[in-house]
Amino acid sequence: MNSENTYILGIESSCDDTAAAIIHNGVILSNVVATQKIHEEYGGVVPELASRAHQQNIVPVVDLALKKANIDKKQLSAIAFTRGPGLMGSLLVGTSFAKSLAYGLDIPLIDVNHMQAHILAHFIKADGQQTPNFPFLALTISGGHTQIVKVTSHFKMEVIGQTIDDAIGEAFDKSAKILGLTYPGGPLVDTYAQQGDPKRFKFPKPKVKPMDFSFSGLKTAVLYFVEKQTAENPNFVKENMADICASLQFTIVSYVIDKLKNAVKHTGINEIAIGGGVSANSGIRTALKESEQKYGWTTHIPRFEFCTDNAAMIAIVGELKLKAGLIADNSVIAAARLKF
Ligand code: KG4
Ligand code: ZN
Repeated sequence: MNSENTYILGIESSCDDTAAAIIHNGVILSNVVATQKIHEEYGGVVPELASRAHQQNIVPVVDLALKKANIDKKQLSAIAFTRGPGLMGSLLVGTSFAKSLAYGLDIPLIDVNHMQAHILAHFIKADGQQTPNFPFLALTISGGHTQIVKVTSHFKMEVIGQTIDDAIGEAFDKSAKILGLTYPGGPLVDTYAQQGDPKRFKFPKPKVKPMDFSFSGLKTAVLYFVEKQTAENPNFVKENMADICASLQFTIVSYVIDKLKNAVKHTGINEIAIGGGVSANSGIRTALKESEQKYGWTTHIPRFEFCTDNAAMIAIVGELKLKAGLIADNSVIAAARLKF
């Protein structure tokens, strides 16, 4: 097959977003995401409900992606899908659908690692975006992941640091919940933080290995802090929301920068690409931009729609793998704990 002029469908269903995208020679033609609202009332993702919603959404989402790209499914060259890591019930929906469609259309099937896709999203062709040069460091920060990865080539990646407990997004969301904010609280913390004093309150930075992260202690520290302060003043949180959020965000952001500094020192690599939903955070964005002047780093932040869970990143990996001849066997199965 001619791998130079291809239309690839990417399918993502690893957590609570059902997504489909079409890529044509590095350019995204459509990128559709159905975000499942059902989880909001539970304050977190309910796996059983997520798989049911995927089953409901998957056909309309793929159909819309094809329509928006203005192509027919018969024009597809290959189908790429998220094999893992993620929630098993959710992965099964995307995997089964992708396998069936590829079989029906008699086109190659390509399995994609979700974490690798967050990183390779940097290779989507988008206006004003420079792709990273190898080797670079990838920082993936979201509600489900916190990792620093040394990326030597498209397919050679090594995890050099990661969280030993909660993900960074959970640190934001769980702290926000303690503050009485709605789920997911990360963006709200960010909004309040922009009006607050980041030095007003001190929160601890958990001590773990230099490139690893730990966030569960931070959430507990926020809980004790709130309990102590509200015992003295029941309106404490309401009256000090901006300063609490600013101080919390300052702690998290400087913790992330500390870890990146350690990774730069350890690897000698100072080109950094970030991805995942938390890369929307204004504090992280500002700190990374400042690091260019301060430490001489080169940084890459993709368009937000390619940062959060999406299928465009699955489609770009599909394209790269197709070019490299890395096709899946039709007996491939979903893998909840898939590693690189
Ligand atoms: O990548 P994503 O959409 O889904 C996964 O978790 O994989 O990331 C969602 C996470 C949530 O924890 C959300 O609170 C957090 O990203 N988030 C933010 C911001 N925007 C989204 N956290 C802090 N500041 C933000 N501006
Ligand atoms: Zn993700």
